[in-house]
Amino acid sequence: MAQDGSEMSRLQQEATTRHNIAEAITRTFAAEDGGLKHALEAAKRAGLPEIQISPIQGKFLQLLAVACNAHKILEIGSLGGYSGIWLSRALPADGRFITLEINPIHAELVRNAFAHAGVSDRAEVRVGNALDVLPHLEHEAPFDLIFIDADKPPYPKYLDWALRLSRPGSIIVADNCIRNGKGFEEPHDEGMAGIVAYNNRIASDPRLISLDIAMDDDYTDGFAISVVR
Ligand code: DHB
Ligand code: MG
Repeated sequence: MAQDGSEMSRLQQEATTRHNIAEAITRTFAAEDGGLKHALEAAKRAGLPEIQISPIQGKFLQLLAVACNAHKILEIGSLGGYSGIWLSRALPADGRFITLEINPIHAELVRNAFAHAGVSDRAEVRVGNALDVLPHLEHEAPFDLIFIDADKPPYPKYLDWALRLSRPGSIIVADNCIRNGKGFEEPHDEGMAGIVAYNNRIASDPRLISLDIAMDDDYTDGFAISVVR
């Protein structure tokens, strides 16, 4: 029993250390300004779930956008506009950010968040079911970076569209692909089936080079990152 107790406190200590490291990285590289904070507060007030990406993930998306010289970015699933603000701010002045949102009330909230964050000149919300809207984006393709963070069952279909709307060198990122390891196991629901299939697809598709990286607050979830060859 004493062994269990000390093992427990050792694990708690390690969790605290990881948390403190994430905090220090956030403080140093990914501090939120008023625009990002306003988006979080407005989303919370509207009753949206607090499942947005972390500041570290936001900064990582910016890093990827700049690495591929992104001028056009597509996001599938806006939530409260938090990730959209990070991504829009990585664009040059003539860049375009398009985010797809199924809920028209949330879309209006996101437009407000973009206005507060000063990115309305380049960031646009399109309302509708992503699988209905995506076919209409072909004339605006290719997108340099595509961020998938919507409902999980259609993740493999979103990947098909991401491939169709991208070019060699484009980067495709999908959120929530690790899920505490469940992203690599036999799935027990439709959401996890979508994520497991997504991981298997990007790991084996010869058109992509891919890697999942754990990078949320406790390193149990993170991004699937693919570069189009
Ligand atoms: C869920 C969805 C997300 O995109 C996320 O980042 C976390 C959780 C969810 O549907 O539970
Ligand atoms: Mg997510």
